[in-house]
Formats: sequence, C-alpha cells, structure tokens
Amino acid sequence: MAKGSSVQTLYELCKRTFLPSGASPPSSHAIQMLSSLMDTITPAEVGLKAEVLEDERGHGFFGSTFSNYSSRTAGWAQPINYLHIYECDSFTIGIFCLPTSSVIPLHDHPGMTVLSKILYGSLHVKSYDWVEPPYLARNTEPFSSPMKLAKLQTDAVLMAPCQTRILYPRTGGNLHCFTAVTPCAVLDVLAPPYDEAAGRSCTYYRDFPFCSFQGYENLEIEEREEEYAWLEAIDQPENLYMRSGIYTGPPVQENVI
Ligand SMILES: [Fe+2]
Repeated sequence: MAKGSSVQTLYELCKRTFLPSGASPPSSHAIQMLSSLMDTITPAEVGLKAEVLEDERGHGFFGSTFSNYSSRTAGWAQPINYLHIYECDSFTIGIFCLPTSSVIPLHDHPGMTVLSKILYGSLHVKSYDWVEPPYLARNTEPFSSPMKLAKLQTDAVLMAPCQTRILYPRTGGNLHCFTAVTPCAVLDVLAPPYDEAAGRSCTYYRDFPFCSFQGYENLEIEEREEEYAWLEAIDQPENLYMRSGIYTGPPVQENVI
C-alpha cells in the first residue's frame, strides 16, 4: 500500500542519495533531485489533515502512547510536536509541527546535510554559518564559554508554499533558529542523523551582535558588522518544550528497492 506514496518515494531517493555514514558525500545533483521531490510534497501526503492545520494547540497529533521527546517542559506553552517517519544509519525523516510563537532555539547540525520543507504556515528562520578559519572571542562573564564568530545566512519569514531549504556542513546556514509566526509544519531530512557517539550531538547557542564586545573593531570582515554575530554554546534551553506525536501518513516500507 505504501509503495507509490510521496513518503515512500522520498525514502527511496534518500536511500540512494545518502550512503551509510563515512561513505562519500552525495553529489549536488542528487541533493537537488531530493529537494525537487520535497518541493512537491503536500501536508495531506504526510497525513496532516485540514482540521489539524487549524489546530494551533496541536493536540490532534497525540494518542495515548506518545513519549516525551524532551524532558524539559514549560507549564504554559504548547508543545512542538515531532512526528517521526523513518531513521537509519544514513538519514532521518521527520516532521516538526510548531504552534504559533513556539521557538526551536539556535542549534547546529555538525557534519550534516539537512533539507527542510515548510509544509504549511509561516516560519521565521534565522541562520548562520561559522566564519572559517574559526575566530574565537573571550566572554568576560564568569563561567561563560568562549564565543565563536558566525556569519548571518538568513533572517527572514518564509511562508508555504516555498522551496525546500538545504543546509550543508559548512554552508547554507548550518546553525539555525525557527520561530513559528503562525502554526506551521516542517518536513526534515537529516543526513546523517544526530549521533552523539559519532561526534554529531546537537549544541544550542545564543547569539550576540558583533558590536557587543570591545577589542574586535579592527577584525577584517567581508560584510557589514550587522552580518556577523558571536555565538556562545549553552545548555538546552529550559523552555524548549518538544515531544513526540504520532505520524499518521503513509508508512515507509523498507527494502522495496
Ligand atoms: Fe535544525
């Protein structure tokens, strides 16, 4: 039954594009093929129904067996729902459903390629790439970690339907922060998946304007100061309220190809 669904096609193309961890990176042509496919995927094709799209509170995704995606909760906030579709050693496919004003804080994707398709709604995206070679600054506050210079890649509100966004290990906005302007959903392909043992854990950051610290006025930068920020690694924010919902779209059938 699942063969022929958009999700099944997405899985099969991911399987051909992303080889097991450590193998050679995919060609840009292969990534573009995947991006073009994701451009065509509609909310209905991944099980998101019209009445649920209007449900800002997000309860429509839950069944009785959901588990906590995060141990952190915020008493008043509505959760961000993560709908898991598929994961293997090479890639992960899933959907983030964000209620209005919810925030996925600034975080990185070390060594990863990520394709993100906004299925519905409006999303503010702010993203950075590290300046290379790395440039570190000292934060004089006690117990703070060193800050690293990053260049702004995107600071915009994106509204569905829009093109799939692609970030790469070093370009395309590898560090990003999502803020839901309206209820929205994002279909994500991550390759390879986060894996702490393999050195791909998710680190959260806070950003400071370039001009926040003294002594770096003469640093040679290519663009305006406003295009740069200092990023400081932080613990996972306490108010990040994310948990697993139930994916109700067509299932992936493995080994069909
Ligand atoms: Fe992300």
